[in-house]
Amino acid sequence: MRVGVLTGGGDCPGLNAVIRAVVRKGETVYGDSFVGFLDGWRGVIEDRTMLLDVDRCRGILPRGGTIIGTSRTNPYKVDDGVARAHHTLAVERIDALVAIGGEDTLGVAHKLAGEGVSVVGVPKTIDNDLSATDVTFGFHTAVQIATEAIDRLHTTAESHDRVIVCEVMGRHAGWIATYAGIAGGAAEILVPEEPFDIDEICNNIVARHAKGRFASIVVVAEGAVPKEGTLALASREVDQFGHVRLGGIANVLAAEIEQRTRIETRVTILGHIQRGGTPTAFDRVLATRFGIAAIDAVHEGAFGQMVALRADHIVQVPLAEAVAQLKTVDPHLLHDVGQVFFG
Ligand code: F6P
Repeated sequence: MRVGVLTGGGDCPGLNAVIRAVVRKGETVYGDSFVGFLDGWRGVIEDRTMLLDVDRCRGILPRGGTIIGTSRTNPYKVDDGVARAHHTLAVERIDALVAIGGEDTLGVAHKLAGEGVSVVGVPKTIDNDLSATDVTFGFHTAVQIATEAIDRLHTTAESHDRVIVCEVMGRHAGWIATYAGIAGGAAEILVPEEPFDIDEICNNIVARHAKGRFASIVVVAEGAVPKEGTLALASREVDQFGHVRLGGIANVLAAEIEQRTRIETRVTILGHIQRGGTPTAFDRVLATRFGIAAIDAVHEGAFGQMVALRADHIVQVPLAEAVAQLKTVDPHLLHDVGQVFFG
């Protein structure tokens, strides 16, 4: 078969491991040839490709990013985008497409599957917000990076008796904040799933510091929101999928905390450090398992499906199920585990 591969959305540690696994099994076991579409759906619309084979995939397992590039292009938001995508797939004689992405990329894959494109999805995102899979690759790496950063923030914050507000990614889900916050021993974890009360946070911090020489690390998800009417946030830009560009809430929060508590407060916004660099061993293995399962799914004709992890087994689930709704953090995780250590 002639198989197209693309990576879409924000890059994520483990993308190259998926590409390598798809190509390795496809070429050596099934005799497939591969076309890498450059920069996600943009490469499909514009017919920009690169050859992918076992040789070209050597050495990429530990490499962050994606060797075929990525973008947030949405064919359904580009003039003639969908028609041009269909045209490219015909011209390139693509028998099947492996789309590696998150909610947006796989949403497009789902729609194209409905129009007859033979596509299999692979779930990626550091945000871990895709339904139908226990976890996405990239999440573990992002949590590890954020946790190491929080560990470092502890020692400097403790030396100065400061509050440090550490902002992590995750879009409208608080997975990275919750896991890194618990792993890093945060004094407060603020997530989009539960609007925060600035009064309560400040009271907790004051009480904590009144007990002695204590620093406070406040981990805030970039998508965290204050309880209605309690704190004003600036409005933001929107991308082709209609998502606002998040980031910066830590600055607002830190200024408010310092002003209300009179405790020196600093800000660290981890940003793209969480997405860059080498994947953890866990993510390399998960991405490799997903890649192998994806090329197997192609040869089973399981189109319109996504490979997923369920109770440590790789399974196939309908793309429709994966993109139906965001997977958000179960508040029990925050209440039963995280909050025991708050304050
Ligand atoms: O979806 C992954 C993610 O890293 C989000 O956590 C974050 O909001 C967004 O991408 C940032 O996107 P960009 O790299 O386009 O600024």
